Amino acid sequence: MPIPHPDPSPPASARRPALFGLLVQLVALGAALALHRGLRLCGVALPLPWLAVVQGLLAAALSAGFRQSRWWWLIQALFLPLLLAVNSLDLWAGWWLIALLLVALLHWNSFGERVPLYLTGRRTERALFGVLDALPNTLRFVDLGCGLAGTLRRLARRYPDGQFVGVETAPLVFLLAWLRCLGVRNCRVAYRSLWDEPLGDYDAVYCFLSPAPMPRLWEKVQKELRPGALLISNTFEIPGVPARQTIELDDWRRSRLLIWRR
Ligand SMILES: C[S@@+](CC[C@H](N)C(=O)[O-])C[C@H]1O[C@@H](n2cnc3c(N)ncnc32)[C@H](O)[C@@H]1O
Repeated sequence: MPIPHPDPSPPASARRPALFGLLVQLVALGAALALHRGLRLCGVALPLPWLAVVQGLLAAALSAGFRQSRWWWLIQALFLPLLLAVNSLDLWAGWWLIALLLVALLHWNSFGERVPLYLTGRRTERALFGVLDALPNTLRFVDLGCGLAGTLRRLARRYPDGQFVGVETAPLVFLLAWLRCLGVRNCRVAYRSLWDEPLGDYDAVYCFLSPAPMPRLWEKVQKELRPGALLISNTFEIPGVPARQTIELDDWRRSRLLIWRR
């Protein structure tokens, strides 16, 4: 197996993007309020919606200046204007709490692990079938962070002699995945962190995570995966460790399957 090159330490904006995003919002808010006050002294009153737009533009500019990913620029630009717009709808306050709880229970791992919930597409899934078709039909497979277990369940049905395990720690996502796999004999979902799942028994380890955990995952794979077993990553590479095979999928999110063999 190739030895990974040491990963250069990423900037603070990449290490803690959510915290950094919040900081950017606060700095932009301070600057917008200072501008508002300055204009007031000159006899110009900036209406609240315009103040929010100015704050959003400042936040997006700061985000770009600190080289956050482009989708952060959009979040930064729209955060305060959207907050004010929704607030003006005068909704029952409980909806905010319910929405917050739902988002937290679904995207539980966005903050700590920096891995939100998004699902493997059908095209990627077909490519995965192509990879697994070459393994014995009694294969043992794990999806590290199985999400709603749609892919896991379809794999279990396609390979009835195989064993399929998903681990998941976002509470609501786990519950839905567990319920969905109840009737599938060779499919099991556990409420367990991927870091606590021993990998030694599996023929194929699948993950669709984010760039953040990949270096640590590689260390775990090197320690635990048995020779000949596969690590298959949807889209995210391991810095400094070229995959043995890459399958480009040419879909809207430019997915690809990266495959390493231990
Ligand atoms: C991008 S989704 C992929 C879902 C599914 N594997 C698929 O491909 O459709 C990543 C999932 O990993 C879960 N996750 C992130 N960190 C985890 C951890 N440490 N342990 C278990 N699950 C985790 C997230 O909650 C999320 O559901």
